[in-house]
Amino acid sequence: MKVSIRQENNVHGALIVERISERVFPRYSRWDYISVMNYVRLGGKVLVAYEGDTVLGGAFVRRLTDDLYELTLIGVLPEYRGKGVGKRLLAGVIGAVKGDIYLHVEVRNEPAINLYEKFGFRKIKRIPKFYSTGEDAYMMVLKRTPSLPENSGEGEG
Ligand SMILES: CC(C)(COP(=O)(O)OP(=O)(O)OC[C@H]1O[C@@H](n2cnc3c(N)ncnc32)[C@H](O)[C@@H]1OP(=O)(O)O)[C@@H](O)C(=O)NCCC(=O)NCCS
Repeated sequence: MKVSIRQENNVHGALIVERISERVFPRYSRWDYISVMNYVRLGGKVLVAYEGDTVLGGAFVRRLTDDLYELTLIGVLPEYRGKGVGKRLLAGVIGAVKGDIYLHVEVRNEPAINLYEKFGFRKIKRIPKFYSTGEDAYMMVLKRTPSLPENSGEGEG
């Protein structure tokens, strides 16, 4: 499979996110393209995986600050899973933004957790009943900016 990853920070990309959220996350409320576009205008990014003109999957990141982004959605259509598309998409996300990236994932979603850990994301806490389905979530973070020392700003000079 010859996969290409493209940034689509436009209405076309936002419509693809809407479609993926419907097909891949049917149990959750869908992301409508207008909301996605609003986040794109604030510095959010949409990445789409293609084989030729066929959409295989996509990812959507929201910008909170220049140093902090949220990976809001990543999904590969069921028929294309297990072929490295998720890895290509996540690598694309990491390359597209500079700051730390955090996300939430269902604690039983082993494929996604494995994928995130492969790229250096770490579980930082478990949040009970995070999802409307009653499932717990892990919050995971990929840290790329240096943390401030604990006593920063309290120098003696
Ligand atoms: C999670 C998801 C995006 C992975 O996409 P994918 O294209 O199937 O993943 P890849 O083929 O690139 O595999 C990447 C890594 O994920 C992990 N992984 C993928 N499928 C797995 C499975 N069935 N079981 C365990 N680990 C799995 C492995 O660590 C794999 O690396 P490896 O092949 O080197 O072992 C895809 O399963 C998906 O869309 N799931 C539904 C949506 C979802 O849960 N999104 C995340 C919500 S937070």
